[in-house]
Amino acid sequence: MFVTVLFALIFYVAIAIFVVGLGMRIVAYARAPAPLKIPTTPAPTTRAGVVRRMATEVFLFNSLFKANKWIWLFGILFHVGLALVLLRHLRYFLEPVPTWVVLIQPFGLYAAFAMVIGLVGLAIRRVAVERIRYISSPSDHLMLGLFLAIALTGLSMTYLWHTDISAVKLFFLGLPRFEFNPLPLQPMLLLHLLLVAGLMIIFPFSKLLHAPGVFFSPTRNQVDNPREKRHVAKVKWMVASERPAGNGDK
Ligand code: HEM
Repeated sequence: MFVTVLFALIFYVAIAIFVVGLGMRIVAYARAPAPLKIPTTPAPTTRAGVVRRMATEVFLFNSLFKANKWIWLFGILFHVGLALVLLRHLRYFLEPVPTWVVLIQPFGLYAAFAMVIGLVGLAIRRVAVERIRYISSPSDHLMLGLFLAIALTGLSMTYLWHTDISAVKLFFLGLPRFEFNPLPLQPMLLLHLLLVAGLMIIFPFSKLLHAPGVFFSPTRNQVDNPREKRHVAKVKWMVASERPAGNGDK
């Protein structure tokens, strides 16, 4: 029971830091003024075009594809794998399990391997390419290592040391009602969960913020229409001392 309560507390803290921290970051991004019209050209000249540009960036990593095919390949393997793994995990948190979550289960499993291959590729690049090694910080390695450790502990449960999935589900379904249902005392599960909680805690302070951040990037989300429409930065978001004099924002 001690371990169950301890993990319940860890997850309350982790979820609170993740939700509040991420929320605060997103508000800060949304409030940051974009004083200049700086879309990377060639850029769309309509809103619909910007939506299309964003979609190809978010789903296909368009600009990365143009920049470097290897990083694109490993990046896409990791991110698509991660997305499918997370969707597969919904069965632990939803009751009844929606049909589409049941249907993607087998794909989610292949996705775990895609995720690992992508992570290993990206990690090798950070160490083997001298130029990249030079600009890599400890946090770059930490993030790759953390995801890899989560994926490997997860896969070890799927293939080597099975855990009681129903008990895991009962534990998580109980958390919102402050019901502490016993968590299986299985080392790989506890390690998997501890690493996941760690990931949630550092997410709002890490480079993983590129996920929400990409939507707020002025070089990507601006319409290229400076001749048709005067660009006025939303200075109302700035604190008074930062306002440029005479900008006419009343
Ligand atoms: C609180 C959140 C999580 C819980 C309760 C959880 C639980 C589990 C369990 C019980 C398994 C074993 C599945 C089986 O035996 O069939 C598993 C596998 C796995 N987990 Fe998690 N996990 C969580 C979060 C995550 C996250 C955030 C990631 C990725 C960053 C992840 C990646 C994986 C992978 C790659 C596998 C192996 C493939 C699979 O069975 O889907 N897990 N997880």
